[in-house]
Amino acid sequence: MIVRRTIKTCCSFIMLSVLVGCSSGSSSVTATSSAEEIYVQNCVACHSGGFKGWMTGAPELGDKAVWEPLIAKGVDVMTTFSIKGVNKMPAKGSCKTCSDQQIKATVQYMVEKSK
Ligand code: HEC
Repeated sequence: MIVRRTIKTCCSFIMLSVLVGCSSGSSSVTATSSAEEIYVQNCVACHSGGFKGWMTGAPELGDKAVWEPLIAKGVDVMTTFSIKGVNKMPAKGSCKTCSDQQIKATVQYMVEKSK
């Protein structure tokens, strides 16, 4: 529980800097960006359980119960949805410079943190 709270506090801080920096949408992802960098720049705004996550209903990073049925579908299925977009989730989380491979790596990163 303490770990979970720490993650939450940490994520809200990141989300705050994303909001304050107005960097959502205009990311600086390059071919060498890591999954974690992509997550922080393009996905955290909705997937950290903050206000935007609540607004859109995005599965929160680290929320095992929410991720379990998603993980059961498999990373490839989740990656396809993430690339094409699903409901309120924009295609590639609006990351225009992310390659399909990078989106897959980011999905795997999120899965690792949520199981
Ligand atoms: C604007 C908000 C928003 C952003 C930004 C966003 N997501 Fe999402 N995401 C959502 C929402 C909402 C859902 C739930 C969609 C549904 O099933 O209704 C979702 C669902 C998902 C899922 C589960 C898909 C499935 O199989 O059902 C994955 C994986 C995912 N997002 C990955 C990402 C990644 C990776 C990024 C960053 C590159 C990202 N998201 C950025 C809102 C967002």
